[in-house]
Amino acid sequence: MFDTHVHLHFSNYDSDREEVILRSKEKGVDYLIDVGINLEDSREALKLAQRYSFIHTAVGVHPHYANEDRIEEFGGLVRDKKTVAIGEVGLDYFKNPIAKETQERTFRKFIRLAKDNHLPLIIHSRSGRDNGNAYLDALEILEQEEASQGVFHCFGGDKEVARRVLNQGFFISFTGNLTFPNAQKTREVASFLPLNKILLETDCPFLAPQQKRGRRNEPAYVRYVAEALAEIKNVSFEEVVRITTENAKGLFGVK
Ligand code: NI
Repeated sequence: MFDTHVHLHFSNYDSDREEVILRSKEKGVDYLIDVGINLEDSREALKLAQRYSFIHTAVGVHPHYANEDRIEEFGGLVRDKKTVAIGEVGLDYFKNPIAKETQERTFRKFIRLAKDNHLPLIIHSRSGRDNGNAYLDALEILEQEEASQGVFHCFGGDKEVARRVLNQGFFISFTGNLTFPNAQKTREVASFLPLNKILLETDCPFLAPQQKRGRRNEPAYVRYVAEALAEIKNVSFEEVVRITTENAKGLFGVK
């Protein structure tokens, strides 16, 4: 399995990081992308990836940190051979005090950084209640910037948004969000999507699947997302694992 979005460098794992990583491997997770959320954090993510051959990294600035992008300091991180993506970057309108204009400006800078370095984007997109659709805004920006390589992570949009994401050339990735009882709409989107455009992730330590709800999430639990997807698609667990792993290896250029 390929868990395409983890934050194992977070302090949530300070007491047992090594065990969690080894357990992932034991449970069949052969590839991990550890994702940064700002400059300092991306440095930590890269450091972790450098210690394990099966961990790669994505570096970027989450929209919660869009007002301190410090993009000129990302050069060395981006050029490291363990860096396989730019992210997470994007737009977040859910209780985010950072102005939309600031978020958009930072997002555009990182899209250009990704394009200049031929790296895919890991996009975080979350709408608020009534202040606009972050997915549609992100898609418009990607269109304008002619960016067509990457993934919308932890997808929570509807079918129409999903269709546009595919048209833009992007993949869609699901977390434990696919397993929640109230996630019927998300499961419908997964059922509509072709399997060759879907990636798996945990977004750990967040979003533990229903079977582990309320606990700290970890990469070993990505199999619950794969199981949910197998049920939705009416294919075997092995088939889901095989195809989503191939998808992720292709997108991120991981051998
Ligand atoms: Ni994340």
